[in-house]
Amino acid sequence: MGTAGKVLGIVGSPNREGRTNQLVAAALDGAARGGASTESIQLADQVVAACKDCLPWVCKDKQKCTYEDEAFEYLSWKILNCGALVVGTPVYWWDTSGLVKYLILKMFRVYARSGPLQGLPAFGIAIAGGTGNGLVSGLRPVYHFFQMMQMRAIEPLPATRFNFDAAVVQAGKLGEELAALADRRRPFKNLEERLLWYDALPYLSLSRAAERNLLADLVIQALPASADPAIASGLARAQALAAAGKALESSIEVTRVYEAGAKAFEGQH
Ligand SMILES: Cc1cc2nc3c(=O)[nH]c(=O)nc-3n(C[C@H](O)[C@H](O)[C@H](O)COP(=O)(O)O)c2cc1C
Repeated sequence: MGTAGKVLGIVGSPNREGRTNQLVAAALDGAARGGASTESIQLADQVVAACKDCLPWVCKDKQKCTYEDEAFEYLSWKILNCGALVVGTPVYWWDTSGLVKYLILKMFRVYARSGPLQGLPAFGIAIAGGTGNGLVSGLRPVYHFFQMMQMRAIEPLPATRFNFDAAVVQAGKLGEELAALADRRRPFKNLEERLLWYDALPYLSLSRAAERNLLADLVIQALPASADPAIASGLARAQALAAAGKALESSIEVTRVYEAGAKAFEGQH
């Protein structure tokens, strides 16, 4: 092992052997290739209790949850002491999992004010393993966590079952990138620099319509060469409609492409 700090992976799915785990494991494999030591934690084994608000708000001064929460003690210690962080979440109802949210909300309450994670390199993965909807909106709470805690996140990975194999490869590449940053923290000079950094990351600022477009595009890319070319050409038609100011017609065309593409994809799997 090199001198890089440890890369910590958090699997935010109740399903220990599922796709979230596969993607986080791929990121940690990449980090190991990059010379970092790694560790994976399953949130299913460390379920954080909901923050019920200590009043007066003393946890932010004590840097400790006021109530007994062994899982939070354990996880927060691991996060505060890692060299870089990977958070993987399954997408549930176009959103992050409850396991991840309870951790995030308690981390905010105890640590957001003191900012002990400033400049920590971080990487978020969301897997929308069903319809694929929410591949970006499921990532946002994770990146909001990174941003509010002043971490320095690298580009996110929106994964679906349509681009899953490519996403595993990409998780490895980004994990390797993270390992190269895990030697030290790189805090932002000020709030403005941090906000612009996050604005510049891909995917996170997409509109809902653009997110559906991205999903349809991923479905098209997953189609075999033998698929009807009319399916893919629908996306160009949707773009033309959008350029002509026909947003609703364009979105309806995107849905047509998505549905035809998903059907063809299912036919070959
Ligand atoms: C409560 C629930 C809600 C879900 N909502 C979505 C969704 O909005 N979009 C989607 O693509 N898949 C959705 N799925 C499917 C999961 O994203 C998919 O099963 C994913 O692989 C779960 O990660 P895992 O394999 O690590 O368990 C949902 C699954 C559950 C259980």
